[in-house]
Amino acid sequence: MPHTWRLLLPLLIILSLPCALPPTSASADPDTPWGADYFPNIPLLTQDGRQVHFFDDLIKDKVVAINFIFTGCGDSCPVETARLRQVQKLLGERVGQDIFIYSISIDPYNDTPATLKRYAEKFAIGPGWTLLTGEAADIEQLRRSLGLYIEGLENGRSKDHNLSLIIGNQATGRWMKASPFESPYILADRLANSLHNWKTASAQHRDYTQAPDIRPPSKGEQLFRTRCSSCHTLGDTEPGVTHGIGPDLLGVTRQRDEAWLKRWLMEPDRMLAEKDPLAMLLYEQYNQLAMPNMRLGETEITALLDYLDEETQRRQSASAQR
Ligand code: HEC
Repeated sequence: MPHTWRLLLPLLIILSLPCALPPTSASADPDTPWGADYFPNIPLLTQDGRQVHFFDDLIKDKVVAINFIFTGCGDSCPVETARLRQVQKLLGERVGQDIFIYSISIDPYNDTPATLKRYAEKFAIGPGWTLLTGEAADIEQLRRSLGLYIEGLENGRSKDHNLSLIIGNQATGRWMKASPFESPYILADRLANSLHNWKTASAQHRDYTQAPDIRPPSKGEQLFRTRCSSCHTLGDTEPGVTHGIGPDLLGVTRQRDEAWLKRWLMEPDRMLAEKDPLAMLLYEQYNQLAMPNMRLGETEITALLDYLDEETQRRQSASAQR
């Protein structure tokens, strides 16, 4: 009998341990090590000049997407912003309700709230997506805590910066890096579904037999989807719904001179600098938002123009058959 007790006693102690823990540990942030102690609660200013605190006002108990931009950035930031704008459109009214998007400036000396406000208007950034600026040192500290600071690369001059997007749910402590060049559908799905209820399986039962046929995309189509579709549609806008940031490109290969198009895709920045009349006209028409130089090579340009032309042809014959 005493022998059995000696065996049982440690077991009983182990079993009773949870009750012995101080009750406070159960109430504060039970699940996540990334609470108020981890994130700096730095003050930031919104594009409307309102002061907010990073932890308390922006991320606490929220599902969020956070990236870092600067409004003077010519190539990668507009592409990233345009991509996020598509995500915002897909999420609709949930942005601002249970999903929040934040773009924080890494160039706070130049990006004042007024500059950010103009940028938001240019990209038609809607409610629920806030642009922010603050003290340079605070923002650097924040980027470090988010794992987005590239040691050695950052030197204020080149403003090379990590393009990753951080998405997460502060309450559950689930955070992940995402590429802003990822499909907007995947990003939207992560924000709307997996980060909210990642423990419950999807209620939708789908069958592979219902999957649509997959047409392998051509090189031009792949390029268009990954590099251009964040700003341009190709004839698939529903009227009044998703307008791109740039013009719809269906038919453009027939409308414009080929040499002009090729040069435009090669160096739109130079054409604008040289005040090419058509380029200037489009620039004025599209909110003075300059199309970025996408650093495309000649084969890529040919593949893209072939795709734009084929797609125009395909749509025309499809509508002629109807
Ligand atoms: C960040 C947004 C953005 C991205 C990305 C982008 N464009 Fe543009 N694009 C524009 C804007 C805005 C214009 C209108 C001219 C201007 O304001 O510079 C434009 C104009 C054009 C035009 C001229 C349209 C016309 O009516 O003549 C073509 C062609 C074009 N883009 C093709 C492309 C292709 C191909 C890609 C991908 C390799 C691409 N663009 C990527 C924003 C973008």
